[in-house]
Amino acid sequence: MVERCIGNVDVLAARLREEITRLGRAPSTGRGLSLAVSGGSVATTFFPRWAAEATFDWGSTDVFWADERAVPPTDPESNYALARSLWLDSARAPADRVHRMRADDPDLAAAARDYDAELRRVVGERPVLDLVLLGMGPDGHVASLFPGHALLGEAGLNVAAVLDSPKPPPRRLTLTLPVLTAARTVVIGAFGASKAGIVRLAIEEADSRLPAALVARGAGRTVWLLDAEAAGQLTA
Ligand code: 6PG
Repeated sequence: MVERCIGNVDVLAARLREEITRLGRAPSTGRGLSLAVSGGSVATTFFPRWAAEATFDWGSTDVFWADERAVPPTDPESNYALARSLWLDSARAPADRVHRMRADDPDLAAAARDYDAELRRVVGERPVLDLVLLGMGPDGHVASLFPGHALLGEAGLNVAAVLDSPKPPPRRLTLTLPVLTAARTVVIGAFGASKAGIVRLAIEEADSRLPAALVARGAGRTVWLLDAEAAGQLTA
């Protein structure tokens, strides 16, 4: 099932809050809610609101990342650093529930294997995250899965090293399509007129091979969160 919510930031944040609240009532594991989050505009849009959200029980939420750049955890380019500064520090998220992707490890393949093991330990041998929050890049990429990349065919690994990302930096870790589409709910956020064309392609082209479209169609439940500008070229 693919749904869309179109509105201003308040409307989109409220919809995301509803999704989190609903999933949190009956999480996929007995540990509590599990999320995977991204960097970019979904992070800067929603994390400050999550930090101020008293109704969420972040203390019993496992936080994973959909992707991470090969930079130290203190680097301003780090998706982890962004989440820490905008959300997790003020939410006082417990350290053992925050599962950083160690994409700064020189042995990226080993870091991917370790993260895969961590995912399986927390959300099951065939990992089922409650919610994955993705942004969509201007080329239709989500997480660090880029259009036409061989990793889109990855069927065995839950986490993979990327050595040739067209978006800098080239080295990254990413969740793969099987684990993203296994999530109970996938939320894809896109904001601004610069995303309008790619939003239309990802949503309206029935056989689109854009990574965002593959995730949206492959997941059991996808919710697009779009502002009016990003939704501006949708025809239906
Ligand atoms: C990253 C992000 C990435 C991001 C998209 C969309 O590390 O680069 O996790 O996957 O979500 O590029 O970013 P914008 O929403 O900022 O365009």
